Amino acid sequence: MDKIVVRGGLKLKGRVRVGGAKNAVLPVMTACLLARGESVIENVPRLADVSTMKSVLERLGARVTFEDHTLSIDTSGVDSNEAPYDLVKTMRASIYVLGPLLASQGGAKVSLPGGCAWGPRPVDLHIRSMQELGAKIDIDHGYIIGHAAGLRGSTIRYSMPSVGATGNTMMAAGLASGKTVIMNAAREPEITALADFINLMGGKVSGAGTETIEIEGVRRLSPAKVRIIPDRIETGTFMAAGAITAGNVVIDDCVPEHVESLSRRFAQSGIKVEARKNQLRVRGKRRIDSVDVVTSPYPGFPTDMQAQYMALMSIARGTCVISETVFKDRFTHVPELRRLGANIKIEGNTAHVGYVRGLSGAPVMATDLRASAALILAGLVAEGETHISRVYHIDRGYEAIERKLRDLGADIERVPE
Ligand code: EPZ
Repeated sequence: MDKIVVRGGLKLKGRVRVGGAKNAVLPVMTACLLARGESVIENVPRLADVSTMKSVLERLGARVTFEDHTLSIDTSGVDSNEAPYDLVKTMRASIYVLGPLLASQGGAKVSLPGGCAWGPRPVDLHIRSMQELGAKIDIDHGYIIGHAAGLRGSTIRYSMPSVGATGNTMMAAGLASGKTVIMNAAREPEITALADFINLMGGKVSGAGTETIEIEGVRRLSPAKVRIIPDRIETGTFMAAGAITAGNVVIDDCVPEHVESLSRRFAQSGIKVEARKNQLRVRGKRRIDSVDVVTSPYPGFPTDMQAQYMALMSIARGTCVISETVFKDRFTHVPELRRLGANIKIEGNTAHVGYVRGLSGAPVMATDLRASAALILAGLVAEGETHISRVYHIDRGYEAIERKLRDLGADIERVPE
């Protein structure tokens, strides 16, 4: 296993390009199962999760090639509908094959995903949605076993806007007979990107990005070619890197409106954020002010930026109150940030981040993808060396993050543990 070593104290300066959105490419990959033939997906980041999803599709019989950030997925040879535990346990997003398999093959055997570092990750909304569309679902020996002679459209209302359940249902409904209406749907840009891809395949999805999505089922969908939208969480992570080091960073190929909720908080804390068409410039300063946040589904403050934001707020004046409302216990980064000198108290789903004059480097351990990013950010500003172990977590969601940060002037390297 590798570790990342950061020597803090340097201001980041220069330009960085954001890659394709992990959480858009994963469902677009499984949506290819809705058609027979070869689809092409461009601007795909080189991530561990993309490789895992590639293996899931290959296990189903698809032929997948991945060169130069372009995936080609040929589903002509798909001859299985089983997503096994050994793959699903490493990536919860494998559940995204459930809808497409039920819709295209009338059956699916998908391992229940385990939990993750911060707690259980249920899939009850996915299962209930498939049942609403007419599938018969049993849970047996840790597997979701689904059968559907033919899916039929229905109206489905979510108690909470689940990104995954919205995506799975949109895909399944694409080939169902009749109309499906999803109410209280997730509004994330990645959902809109998935809807756009299904429409490129010949589907009829409308309302994506709003809380009500309508899908007119069609008899057949065809392979298509699509370019993945920029990753708004990678964008936010580099914004935080420029801010925490009081640097001056330009982020290219991003979508400023996708990080609007973040830019607003940054501006309130005294950080300069200038947005242009597909570019953001972030100018940090030594003394920033605390600004409270409550994470919420898009367009609210993203839960996937909570850990990174907490690292930034650990050196901001005043006390910052950060409430996590999307996931329970998504605070595994807190004990590690404390090792770097952060002053953080947890009360239920709320973190109180007190001011400290500075952080000091120490050996810390990454526990999950976004916690790893938070530890790197803290290391960029901590005095001395920070050694972050278990960096395989970060490779799940960031392509070559240490190279991109080094190109911005950080003293950071990846070394064998
Ligand atoms: C997606 O996860 C993202 N992953 C997550 O990003 C992100 O944190 C999350 O959406 C919220 O934005 C991908 O897109 C691959 P949810 P997902 O269903 O779909 C509960 C990252 O770092 N829930 O919107 O799993 C759930 O427990 C990852 O890139 C149920 O109760 O999230 C949570 O409390 C981490 N039952 C809430 O809904 C269900 O069947 C929102 O979860 C499904 C979800």
